[in-house]
Parts: sequence; C-alpha cells; structure tokens
Amino acid sequence: MLTDGFKELLNIGIALSSVHDLDKLLDMILTEAQKLTSADSGSIYLVEGDKLIFKTSRSNTYFKRWGEKKTREIFKSFEMPITKQSIAGYVALTCQPLNIPDVQTIPQDFEFHYNPTLDKKYDYKTVSMLVIPMLNRDEKIIGVLQLINSLSGNKIVPFTDEHQKITTSFSSQAAVAIQNAKLTEDLKSAHFDTIFRLSAAAEYRDKETGNHIKRVSHYSKIIAENLGLSQQDSELIFWSSPMHDIGKLGIPDAILQKPGKLTPEERAVMEQHTVIGAMVLKDTTADVLKKSRIVALTHHEKMDGTGYPLKLKGNEIPIEGKIVALADVYDALSSKRCYKEPFSDEKVISILKEGNGNHFDEKILDVFLSSINEINTIREKYSDKEEDFDKFADFKNINILELLK
Ligand SMILES: [Fe+2]
Ligand SMILES: [Fe+2]
Repeated sequence: MLTDGFKELLNIGIALSSVHDLDKLLDMILTEAQKLTSADSGSIYLVEGDKLIFKTSRSNTYFKRWGEKKTREIFKSFEMPITKQSIAGYVALTCQPLNIPDVQTIPQDFEFHYNPTLDKKYDYKTVSMLVIPMLNRDEKIIGVLQLINSLSGNKIVPFTDEHQKITTSFSSQAAVAIQNAKLTEDLKSAHFDTIFRLSAAAEYRDKETGNHIKRVSHYSKIIAENLGLSQQDSELIFWSSPMHDIGKLGIPDAILQKPGKLTPEERAVMEQHTVIGAMVLKDTTADVLKKSRIVALTHHEKMDGTGYPLKLKGNEIPIEGKIVALADVYDALSSKRCYKEPFSDEKVISILKEGNGNHFDEKILDVFLSSINEINTIREKYSDKEEDFDKFADFKNINILELLK
C-alpha cells in the first residue's frame, strides 16, 4: 500500500519528466521537495567536474521579505570546490544523506562544518537541514539537494526519517530528469553554436565580421517581439536570421570580393546567394532551418516588387524575410565595412525612411524606429573591433598549437 506521500511522488515524477528547461526544472524540483518536507528554504547544487555549482534556491522567508525576483538576484549562481568541509561537499563526496536536527550542535571534530556567513549577512537562522545526494541511474552523483528548516506550524523542527526516505526517492527521479534536461540543453547549444559558426564562416568570406550576424539576430528578435509575435516565433527568427547570407559560400571570390561596382552579369550571380542559401537549407524537418530557408530566400525582396530573387510584392513577402531585410540593411548602414565608415544616426534613419513602404514594410519600420533604444544597446554590445575584421585572414600570427586545445 502506497502512502499518500509516495503516491504524490509518482505524480511528481511524471511531471518532472515533461520539463526540459533546466532552470524551470530545478525550480520545480525545489518547490516539490519543500512541499514534501515542509521546508522553509532549499537549494540545489549541481556537480560539474570537481566543482559544485550553486544553481537555484527557494526560500519562503526571503520570498516574503523581498519577493521572488529580488531574492533570485541576491542568490546568484556561484561555484565552490567539492571538499568534505562543507555540508553539500561532504554529501557529494560520500553520496550519503545528512539529516541534521540543529546545525549549531554539529560537533567541532566532525569533518564538515556549517558555514553561517549567509545567515549572518541576510538575517536568517538555519536550524534543521536535510541534505540529499542526487544520484543518476548509474549511482553517479550529479547534484546535491539541500533543504533547510522543516516547519511544524511556525516552529522549526528536525526533518523526520519519513522526510529523508521520500526525498531520497524523489531526488533520484529528479536526477534523471536533470540529466535529460542537461542533455537537451547541450544538444540545443551545440546546434545553435554550429549555426552561428557556419554563418560566421559565410560572412568572413564577404569581409564581414561575426558580430554582423549577432547584431542582425538580435535586431530581428527585437522587431519580432515588438511587433507582437509570440515568444516562440521571436526566438525562431533570432536563430534563423544568422543564416541569411549562407548562400554566399557558393559565390566566386572574384565577384564576392570585387572592389568597386559589379557588372550586371556579376550582379546577377551575386543575387543568386539567396537561392543557393535556400537550396542549402531545403528538405529539413527542423523548424529553425525551415525558417532559415525562408529568410535566406527572401531577405532581399522589397515591398514594391523590385527586390530579388522572386520580385515578391507587399504581403507576398514572408514576415521573417521583411524583418531580416530591415535588420540587415540597418546594420550595413550603421556599422563599419571595409569600404565605408558607419553613417551617422541621422543619415541611417533618413535612408531607412526613404525606403518606407517601397523597400520596407511600413509597420515593421515603424516598430523598428520606436525600438531604437533597444537596438542601440545591441549595437554597442556587439560593436566591431579592428581585430574582428581579419580574424580568419591573419593566419600568420596564429599559434596553431592553440587550436589543438
Ligand atoms: Fe544577403
Ligand atoms: Fe548580412
């Protein structure tokens, strides 16, 4: 016969496995662990190499005092070496739970000690503690769950054996969920990192910097958000816009890097970068690459139908194409290129306004201009330094051994 606590545990296990965002998952684990043990506060540390990383904490007392947002600002992530002197480190090394009725009564000659620094700093009194190792399916430690001050009414009481048992079962479910979420995050970040690096490779051939695509990505996301697109669609535009010029990989150097004006024939070849990009990105099931294909194909279309390659007009142009078109042109005008210095803000804005309705979508330009403060913040954050312009070209000065690391 299952106790209510263990029935609850089964339901939580199912809920945990459906959360793939690591921060949300850790928060959910803590909330549930607090409920299972009537704990006032709690923290989760994750093991990374030989360090413990303090990832998240919840505290009813602090939330009441400062609210959730401020509490989270105060208790930011930090790391510490895994040693037996700290309670969390001791649990991580021994893989054994600690149930401490009162931290003040930990004998001096014990290997671990309670560190009261945070209590003193933030006027909190830690009394009882339940600290549980989080073990994955291979019994390997991946983190430590630390619960503080079990409450019975307003009174702080020790954690019970039942609390320890239930939290131990719970933490192994939580460990599996954390491991899955981390794997998903790793895959996601490797995937997006690859997108940026490949896109940067295409831009370098064109003598543009890697910052160009970062700025365009951010500008596009700001426009999407302020246009009222959903968070998910805005994110998709962010991740698909860096590939707008990926097709330039297929344009011969003689044309791509030709100083001065292109002949009409050369221009026609150059314009093919939109189609080549879309070809590179076709036949995919991934949403982000589908959007990237649309962006690559349509980022040079113009509202009046004079763009390329399809000469689409008005709303025939997909919204992501229109957004990236504006972000890309703005960036070209407002940043240094090898053939020009950045234009003044007034000149940039007046050129954009000249394109209102014929080159750019009126509503999108309107939203862009009213978001100019956000745009400027990004422009400064990812501004180009001199060395960014020849990062790949300057092979002679690179210590090739560095690349082995
Ligand atoms: Fe382009
Ligand atoms: Fe571009």
